[in-house]
Amino acid sequence: MHDPDPSALDARFGVPGRVSFHDVNGIAVVEITHAAASARIAMQGAQLMTWAPTGMEPVIWLSPRARLAPGVAIRGGVPVCWPWFGPHASEPSLPSHGFARTAPWELLQVEPAPQSTELLFRLSPGDVPGAPWPQAAELQLRLAIGAGLEMELVTRNRGDRPLTIGQALHTYFGVGDVRRVRIEGLDGCPYIDKVAGGRRGIQRGAVTIDGEVDRIYLDATADCVIDDPVLARRIRIAKRGSRSTVVWNPWADKAAKMGDVGENGYLHMVCVESGNVADDVVTVAPGSVHRLWVGYSVEG
Ligand code: BG6
Repeated sequence: MHDPDPSALDARFGVPGRVSFHDVNGIAVVEITHAAASARIAMQGAQLMTWAPTGMEPVIWLSPRARLAPGVAIRGGVPVCWPWFGPHASEPSLPSHGFARTAPWELLQVEPAPQSTELLFRLSPGDVPGAPWPQAAELQLRLAIGAGLEMELVTRNRGDRPLTIGQALHTYFGVGDVRRVRIEGLDGCPYIDKVAGGRRGIQRGAVTIDGEVDRIYLDATADCVIDDPVLARRIRIAKRGSRSTVVWNPWADKAAKMGDVGENGYLHMVCVESGNVADDVVTVAPGSVHRLWVGYSVEG
């Protein structure tokens, strides 16, 4: 096991005034300060918790009621869903969205580049004893944090059989009022409506939200844009190596039952998740690599 102690991490990777490590309820958290943006990342799950370009409301939303505790999924930020998405296909007792988001990742590298701060994390089978790890595989997550945000999730199949995975970067975006938002880029895409028991449909026009939404868009490879008139900004979501986009908002009743969304929290977030799920799961050949890349930027 690698050392999750914040002072040891600070001694190895800290950059004065730019990268520091802190303990929050037993979880080591990396704090990034940069002229262009600030961000926080939990070592647990290598989970980006917040990202705010300088002078802007956070683009990545963290619930004010998020629970930070070892082994507990953090509500908000960018949970890494892997190696399955949603409930496990055959074993309902296994955790929703896989085990990567609550696992102790290893920090391999911190690179304070001029335009962004880059971090590289790794998750290997030995890091999560007892997890239903799909044969010999290794996962890496690279983040580049600056005025824009890039993330790349790399799955390496080190085994001798094909490896099939469901995966998503389950990003919670902060919005002024979700009822006023339009999500562009999904027009014409087929979708699975989880709120309607898995009914299939085709998206027409932009996605708007006035109730619970939980849809898996398939064959969705174009950029999405979250148009937010209240915060007067457009968040662009570019991606590569992803055929699915999941749009989720729990709305009032479900959010109240979840207990960690915060009062009216559901009005200030929308998840637009880039991944490969349902019909779009990917198979990685032995010795090969799959790369899921996203780039987020804000247009005024
Ligand atoms: C979404 C799923 O991606 O994540 C929803 O489509 C799910 O069905 C939501 O409710 C939140 O999942 P969790 O496990 O973080 O509560």
